[in-house]
Amino acid sequence: MFNTLFSKPVRPMPSVVEMDIQSLDMDKIPQHIAIIMDGNGRWAKAQGKVRTQGHKAGAETLKTIVKAADKLGIKAITAYAFSTENWKRPVTEVHFIMELLSRYLTSEIQEFRENNVQVRFMGSREGLPDIVSRKMDHAIKETENDTGIILNLAINYGGQAEILHAVRSIARQVADGTLNVEDIDASVFEDNLYSKGLPSPDLMIRTGGDLRVSNFLLWQIAYSEIWTTPVFWPDFTPAMLVEAIRVYQKRERRFGGLIQK
Ligand code: FPP
Repeated sequence: MFNTLFSKPVRPMPSVVEMDIQSLDMDKIPQHIAIIMDGNGRWAKAQGKVRTQGHKAGAETLKTIVKAADKLGIKAITAYAFSTENWKRPVTEVHFIMELLSRYLTSEIQEFRENNVQVRFMGSREGLPDIVSRKMDHAIKETENDTGIILNLAINYGGQAEILHAVRSIARQVADGTLNVEDIDASVFEDNLYSKGLPSPDLMIRTGGDLRVSNFLLWQIAYSEIWTTPVFWPDFTPAMLVEAIRVYQKRERRFGGLIQK
């Protein structure tokens, strides 16, 4: 069943040429955008398709959006591909997403290289199929010298699990005497998160209409602007990305302070 699903193209993808970048201030492009790609299952249902076809379509949308983001000068996209809670889904759906990831990491690697995309991951490797984990290592290695946009895929990721992971790692450093308790600050904490080396997202986009954070980047989104749309992820287009950025550029970011007028 999976092979038939994988072989059929789902639908034509919108082109990045559709973007109306005239409406944007190119000096205020967000550096890092986090995306909760929700609504794949509902998109599939609305089309009379099986849920997994929605994930396949969603993976194609991600490719289009990464290319569009790169053209806009965005430096990094962190996309929520599989959460620590997604293991609760039917085993066939979990299997499909893992298979999709595995295929994606093989089929797209050449295109990532050609487009200078650097691939990174965040999340726990525990419980992932070996083949997926190996392909993740391969994708990191193949693209580590790419200097274009960073595609950071959150796989087996949960914000609470990430914070616990950081706390354990810091506790170990204190226990073995390499870190003083007094020296633990935000920067030390961030160095122990999976997102080490990436700036916090300026903007978080959630598709699919729900108004939740869903355990995504709990530490990192402290001051991120949030933009949501009822549109299901497979229908998200470069033009909608531009709209999200246009709205973001109108927001006043105060980071808890006051704007001097
Ligand atoms: C949410 O839609 C989406 C996910 C749980 C998985 C996201 C996965 C992909 C976009 C495809 C895999 C990614 C790559 C990079 C190969 P949902 O199933 O929760 O949708 P629903 O809310 O309509 O049920």
